Amino acid sequence: MRGILLAGGSGTRLHPITAVSSKQLLPVYDKPMVYYPLSVLMLAEIREILIISNPEHIENYRDLLGDGSRLGLRLSYAVQDQPRGLADALRIGRDFIGDEQFALILGDNIFYGNALTETLRRERARLDGCTLFGYRVADPERYGVATIDDAGRVTSLEEKPPAPRSNLAVTGMYFYDNEAADLATRLKPSPRGELEITDLNRIFVERNKARLVDLGRGCAWFDTGTHESLMDAALFVQVLAKRQGIRLACIEEVAFRMGFIDEDQLASLGKEFVATSASGYGHYLMDLAGT
Ligand code: DAU
Repeated sequence: MRGILLAGGSGTRLHPITAVSSKQLLPVYDKPMVYYPLSVLMLAEIREILIISNPEHIENYRDLLGDGSRLGLRLSYAVQDQPRGLADALRIGRDFIGDEQFALILGDNIFYGNALTETLRRERARLDGCTLFGYRVADPERYGVATIDDAGRVTSLEEKPPAPRSNLAVTGMYFYDNEAADLATRLKPSPRGELEITDLNRIFVERNKARLVDLGRGCAWFDTGTHESLMDAALFVQVLAKRQGIRLACIEEVAFRMGFIDEDQLASLGKEFVATSASGYGHYLMDLAGT
């Protein structure tokens, strides 16, 4: 399975903090936002990942993450010259996807939960059509909203409905069979001029091939699209760090725990950080590596 991480858009809802920087590089407590969705793809055991951003920011991502080899990943980069919608990522990534299954994750979505890794593994193995991940929220009208039957089949899907039929928001992580890549190229822009991911997902709903996994109460999900949600996410990460000593979305740690890199590689990444920064991040990595 391959992964596409979409980190473009204009970020206008967060201006002026996004006036000169990419939204998905803003800090969420102690790490750039993009680390969080990247670590989720890694937890799904996805190692070949395409990062998409706009022309003015793509080099920042390359500078930050490189070719991924330090983390046992293969990262590549592509430009979205206009925010043409989330499904546009599949058009841009068509060659990268090849004939594989793939996951799409939005660069501003943060997931945390102790059963998350297990859920990702299970859903990857049983993927047939498309799999969405749902989260019950108090303000569903801000999101894609689904209804499901007892077996988790999606029975309806609407984008930001004024009168939602449920409180089950569709999060920004999607697993697809290969054919979704071709289906996406046939989508027509919506009235707001975008290639909507919800329109693509509806094709799978009509074919009875869309499943939704309710992430449930044991999981936390943040879409950091507003100042409030950005702050909420940062505070959540800070609480975990302070109370439990957990560094959420530490990509070097995830690479180590997933077996993408070994103890020696982790230790040398830690040493590099210690030599060049005073943040404590390097010592955390070195402790993990037992050095
Ligand atoms: O976060 C989950 C929600 O994401 C889903 O519930 C919705 O169904 C889905 O449409 C999407 O809604 P948003 O209102 O959050 O979409 P937005 O246009 O804000 O885009 C989400 C992220 O993707 C944002 O960080 C910017 C980036 N983006 C967006 C567009 C339209 C791109 O990189 N390129 C784009 O063309």
